Amino acid sequence: MANTPASARPRDSGRDESIIQVRGLKNAFGESVIHDGLDLDVRRGEILGVVGGSGTGKSVLMRSIIGLQTPVAGEITVFGEPTIGREETEATAIRKRWGVLFQGGALFSTLTVSENVQVPLREFYGGLDPALMAEIAAYKVVMTGLSPDAGPKYPSELSGGMKKRAGLARALALDPELLFLDEPTAGLDPIGAAAFDQLTKSLQKTLGLTVFLITHDLDTLYAICDRVAVLADKKVIAVGTIDELLALDHPWIEEYFKGPRGRAAIATQEAQDASQHPTEVKTQQIAASPAAATTTEPADPARPPVGTD
Ligand SMILES: Nc1ncnc2c1ncn2[C@@H]1O[C@H](COP(=O)(O)OP(=O)(O)OP(=O)(O)O)[C@@H](O)[C@H]1O
Ligand SMILES: [Mg+2]
Repeated sequence: MANTPASARPRDSGRDESIIQVRGLKNAFGESVIHDGLDLDVRRGEILGVVGGSGTGKSVLMRSIIGLQTPVAGEITVFGEPTIGREETEATAIRKRWGVLFQGGALFSTLTVSENVQVPLREFYGGLDPALMAEIAAYKVVMTGLSPDAGPKYPSELSGGMKKRAGLARALALDPELLFLDEPTAGLDPIGAAAFDQLTKSLQKTLGLTVFLITHDLDTLYAICDRVAVLADKKVIAVGTIDELLALDHPWIEEYFKGPRGRAAIATQEAQDASQHPTEVKTQQIAASPAAATTTEPADPARPPVGTD
């Protein structure tokens, strides 16, 4: 990393305020060391994409940050507060300020969508009036692009994309400042995935969220991430914009972003940009790309698209 630009180094909190700081993180399961000397900063208001091969420890990193995985060594602060080894009441006060969408969605199958969204409300604000909790849940459901009649449905009655949105509604239940999303578009068709990306982006903008977004989806990285952190060799080997990462000349990064799927993602992004600025490009470029059909998401998350799931 000797030639790495300053902005692409892991320890680059710089002038921007870091909402999450990870220093010297080590995680191991028995003999198997997952992270060793991992550093990362997540800046306020950004969408940070987290990428890396399967099994490199992206989900374990997220679990460490949110206190579900106790590291062997290292320090983690969120909102300037250490999250490791805190008293339960202190930990609860910090946990209230973030929302999490776990890999696979993890809705409670015996609860309706509305009841699922109310789980964090009950956990953190047990004394709330049930009618108020139902009203808050209904608002979050609509905010994520589900129709109001999804509220009384059970997860088994939902499509994959609807389940993701229900999981997102639950993650938003406490009006978080920080959102953790683990593979939110996995298993969605490209149009559903693009719609979910735009939903994430518009929520980030309108609610001022910071988003820690684990993804394998190159389209997501190009479409909505401000910076991308790359996990490899038990560390975050680089953080930066995609252009900054490509300038590093690292074989894995090169292969990841410039391989066939990376090239397809660039083409998709170019077509999306073109469709947003139609006068600047040839009409047939837009018409040739199915991605052009995915840019109709309105900016207001309270007015979501219909029929994308
Ligand atoms: N509770 C656990 N006990 C033992 N090993 C674990 C546990 N959780 C994760 N691991 C191991 O830690 C490593 C990293 O897992 P993790 O789930 O973080 O990978 P990932 O980067 O999220 O992968 P994917 O992209 O497939 O989701 C894997 O080898 C996994 O088997
Ligand atoms: Mg994972």
